[in-house]
Amino acid sequence: MTSSFYPPLRTLMGPGPSDVSPRVLGALGRPTIGHLDPLFVQLMDQIKELLQYAFQTKNALTLPVSAPGSAGMEACFVNLVSPGDTVIVCQNGVFGGRMKENVERCGATAILVEDNWGDPVSIDKVSTAFEQHPQAKLLAFVHAETSTGVQSDAAALCKLATSKGALSIVDTVTSLGGIELLVDAWGADAVYSGTQKCLSCIPGISPVTFSSRAVERIQARDDKVQSWFLDMQLVMGYWGGNTKRAYHHTAPVNNLYALHEALLMLREEGLEGAHTRHRHNHEALVAGLEAMGLGMAVAAEHRLPQLNSVIIPEGVDDAAVRAALLKYYDLEIGAGLGALAGKTWRIGLMGFASNGRNVLHCLGALEAILASQGAAITAGAAIPAAQAVYDS
Ligand SMILES: Cc1ncc(COP(=O)(O)O)c(C=O)c1O
Repeated sequence: MTSSFYPPLRTLMGPGPSDVSPRVLGALGRPTIGHLDPLFVQLMDQIKELLQYAFQTKNALTLPVSAPGSAGMEACFVNLVSPGDTVIVCQNGVFGGRMKENVERCGATAILVEDNWGDPVSIDKVSTAFEQHPQAKLLAFVHAETSTGVQSDAAALCKLATSKGALSIVDTVTSLGGIELLVDAWGADAVYSGTQKCLSCIPGISPVTFSSRAVERIQARDDKVQSWFLDMQLVMGYWGGNTKRAYHHTAPVNNLYALHEALLMLREEGLEGAHTRHRHNHEALVAGLEAMGLGMAVAAEHRLPQLNSVIIPEGVDDAAVRAALLKYYDLEIGAGLGALAGKTWRIGLMGFASNGRNVLHCLGALEAILASQGAAITAGAAIPAAQAVYDS
């Protein structure tokens, strides 16, 4: 018989969604009010200000798109790319491939700059691409590649785009709240993110921000943006600065209560505090994994603290380990994707889930499951190694 759904209490240490803070879940259950209610409009203004803080921007066009990160991605492309344009797209994992797809669906040409999965985007290759394609109007790249756990140098890439007279589109779905993200200081033009990673929030909303240069380009378009829902000129009528709010779509009212609470928590902790926490837990996890005898897939200087790619030891059954972690420990970790499928695990330490208890829980559980599979690991070393990081 069909009955109410009560999910188990999992620990979410995969590539996202990550554990949602109880404070955020509490906010989600507050009474729904109208999306044009004056009190809701005040909440929208606060969300905008809190997002400006999170993105470190003064951009007036900063808002949460009422749909997941993929919609934020699409919003950036459909508003800034016209048919016939040339766009340089960097691919060093899954999500650069989706950017290319977006460019092509906008009727533009994507110039692909490829790097190995597990490496950051090469600034030199992007520079060469601009020399070979001086007509390129946009550079698109992923700041924090969730499929591999690699961080690219967003500051240098945005600077390069600006020096070539191009705008930048930056994917920060996994970076927002977890690592430094300075939209204004970097001169990033169209930036999108997600709520289900380092913001400790539910999935399904995509914060975006557009620079004044990007807004000028959107306003100068003489063709219609191909998506009605994501056309920023229309969305601005609802989320826009001083103008009267006009109905565009019914905002996901309760989801926005949740986002407001999550952003408030981020501001209370402070960006620096949140970044330090993510780094510290990452260091403890890596110390434990290495003490156990496991290796990391990404070079130390390019690692994301919030997404740890671990090399699966020879002879270990990837899927069986993940299934056992879920069955016996209610613990979710991620599988490798694309070129790294079957070769790596992705252990997330994102937002509310980035804490010492999760690190120790994961190390203990992984050690027990690997030992039961007969893997050649060093038993008993992981937890003391991680604790040593916390005690230092
Ligand atoms: C880097 C990156 N970009 C885009 C997305 C797409 O976000 P969503 O799944 O919320 O649509 C994800 C999701 O994991 C991501 O990690």
